Amino acid sequence: MRARQICVSTIMTQDSSGRAPADSKLWGGRFGEATDAFVEAFTASVNFDKRLYRQDIAGSIAHARMLGRVGVLTEAESTAIVEGLERVRAEIESGAFEWRVSLEDVHMNIESRLTTLIGDTGKKLHTGRSRNDQVATDIRLYLRDAIDGIDRLMTDLLRALIELAEPHANTIMPGFTHLQAAQPITFGHHLLAWFEMLQRDRDRLRDCRKRVNVLPLGAAALAGTTFPIDRHDVAAALGFGSVAENSLDAVSDRDFAIEFAGVASITLVHLSRWCEELVLWSSQQFGFIDLPDRFCTGSSIMPQKKNPDVPELVRGKSGRVIGDLMSLLTLMKGQPLAYNKDNQEDKEPLFDAIDTLTDCLTAMLGLVPAIEVRAATLREAALQGYTTATDLADYLVRRNVPFRDAHEIVGRTVGYAVAAGRSLESLSLRELQQFGGDAIDASVAEVLTLEGSVNARNHFGATAPAQVRAALERARARL
Ligand code: ARG
Repeated sequence: MRARQICVSTIMTQDSSGRAPADSKLWGGRFGEATDAFVEAFTASVNFDKRLYRQDIAGSIAHARMLGRVGVLTEAESTAIVEGLERVRAEIESGAFEWRVSLEDVHMNIESRLTTLIGDTGKKLHTGRSRNDQVATDIRLYLRDAIDGIDRLMTDLLRALIELAEPHANTIMPGFTHLQAAQPITFGHHLLAWFEMLQRDRDRLRDCRKRVNVLPLGAAALAGTTFPIDRHDVAAALGFGSVAENSLDAVSDRDFAIEFAGVASITLVHLSRWCEELVLWSSQQFGFIDLPDRFCTGSSIMPQKKNPDVPELVRGKSGRVIGDLMSLLTLMKGQPLAYNKDNQEDKEPLFDAIDTLTDCLTAMLGLVPAIEVRAATLREAALQGYTTATDLADYLVRRNVPFRDAHEIVGRTVGYAVAAGRSLESLSLRELQQFGGDAIDASVAEVLTLEGSVNARNHFGATAPAQVRAALERARARL
């Protein structure tokens, strides 16, 4: 995780006029001494939560407008606050804003600056609200936007997979189990397996978004507020699909972040498995594909090396996202209702999961369309390893040999071919009949070819080229 700088500064609570200076604590009233400098730095979150500034300001604007509408603020006050918040946002975006650790977090930095800009009216913004419902609102808004960006990346990657698979409905390769050549399959079919996984990931993401998109604001500290707020008005202004039903739940639970990290972890596990294949396939031993030079790096000592760093890193980065999920789960598990400061620790793992998933999808999106497929090598590999043995057994079964006997016959046939250093296809009819008797005739030749094998698996979800073409069409429609 990125290193966090704890930056210690001095605290001022009051100046000689008795008025609070710009970086005094907004909650300082009941305190008799300044915050310990270490504690101030230890409890501050501004160094990492300032990235919520846009969501924080959007939430505050919706809140202030609603307070104006229901009459808790005058129209003039509400307008002054909204305009002030827009100025603060402009300052942040221009780089002129000065973030202060002494003001603890993004919320109090912005509110404090608002008051400096517009005067005492700024102090009315926090009416009927707490940082507890404020921060929960900010993270949900932030995560919702991040989910929409990730959804777009996933959709683009799904499209890139279809495009890579499309010319390869007929390309034959070995399918593997235990990383041993098992049965011939088509390359398009193999790629569509990754399509299915990623497409389920996108479904999970969309489902998760529904539970993220719920408004906590109005829960205030934990119990709601004494002011006549209109939460549905705020939800509509911020595009939330619904309003949290229970104020205690709204300010305290972070299951939506855990759920997102779960979705991100599953996605990264899928990308990691996929990348493991890309690493294997681009090795000299497999030689199934070529990765573009611009996605590889060299060795500082071995001049011949071209290393698949990008898929290796995606594989490696799955670890940190799984770690983020563990952090969030562990952070939540011991917390009694309602808000506890533990929850401040939700942000770094959540941001890390968002950033890492975004980066990994972006990397894959660059890599996938540039993969060069070596169809001849794929075919050559399928010819090794007796991959049509099951076809021979199925042939015998169609000729009334019970499957277990057929299995035994083909096993002995393969043993014979291995000892002779020959392929099944190259055995003469007479040689085959030594094991299978007259259940085998000349029609067996077709069954032992790679094309015969893949074409024979011709039902929904199987590897025959005709099925792959149909699956590609359905895949396009599902995008
Ligand atoms: N920075 C805090 C967080 O991220 C904001 C909420 C603080 N609330 C409180 N009661 N101290 O959770």
